[in-house]
Amino acid sequence: MMVVVVMGPPGAGKGTQAVRLAERLGLAHVASGDLFREALAAGTPLGLQAKGYMERGELVPDTIVVDMVLERMARPDCAAGVVLDGFPRTAAQAEALDQALAAQGKQVEAALYMRVPAEVVLDRLTGRRICRDCQAPYHVVFNPPARTGICDRCGGSLYQREDDREETVRHRLEVYLQQTAPLISYYRQRRLLREVDGTGGLDEVTGRLVRLLDEGVA
Ligand code: AP5
Repeated sequence: MMVVVVMGPPGAGKGTQAVRLAERLGLAHVASGDLFREALAAGTPLGLQAKGYMERGELVPDTIVVDMVLERMARPDCAAGVVLDGFPRTAAQAEALDQALAAQGKQVEAALYMRVPAEVVLDRLTGRRICRDCQAPYHVVFNPPARTGICDRCGGSLYQREDDREETVRHRLEVYLQQTAPLISYYRQRRLLREVDGTGGLDEVTGRLVRLLDEGVA
């Protein structure tokens, strides 16, 4: 099983690029935020547990996230491997992932860190629209769908995430700096960190990531 971690601040483009990478590598795309939003839409106990944290832009407690993601990774479509998007997000989550992989004689292949400054992230998130059905992300200016309000991929309707309001985005950025940014050195110390400039157009960023992959580092 090949495990590639995609990291970066909220709005760095993790989801956008992780889907492309997963397709290219023939791996499953596993996004913790998508899993929570699906659970929320389905009204499951997991969704209800996560709801308040997500609306406030806080992290959901580690044990809930770790159980959910490891369970997802055990499904058949993840047998070849996964591109993890938005997980791990704390040191405890990274350690739990390492332990679970070590128990199978595996380890993280690479952690791709997408660097994007805060002001760029704010523009990206306040203009973001998400498909209600497949969660594909769009942007009203940078990546609009062919038909306004309709997902190109599945025809679902697009909506604005509750936590993409400016005030909540600012709080998510603070939470990122406090709790998730320290993972950059966690992976750097393990020589797994690969940094990518996440600014510029969608295809430009994909090109940089693909070059990294072609160099055989992920
Ligand atoms: P989550 O859904 O993971 O949100 P996030 O990390 O804040 O990341 P985003 O989805 O906001 O951004 P992204 O980097 O994927 O960017 P995207 O590709 O969409 O988490 C939400 C919440 O769930 C958390 O706050 C927490 O409560 C909970 N949660 C999830 N995981 C957790 C965990 N592990 N532990 C604890 N709690 C957890 O792009 C953003 C926008 O920019 C889009 O509009 C896109 O079209 C546009 N865009 C992308 N690339 C470009 C580009 N190159 N140029 C211009 N526009 C671009």
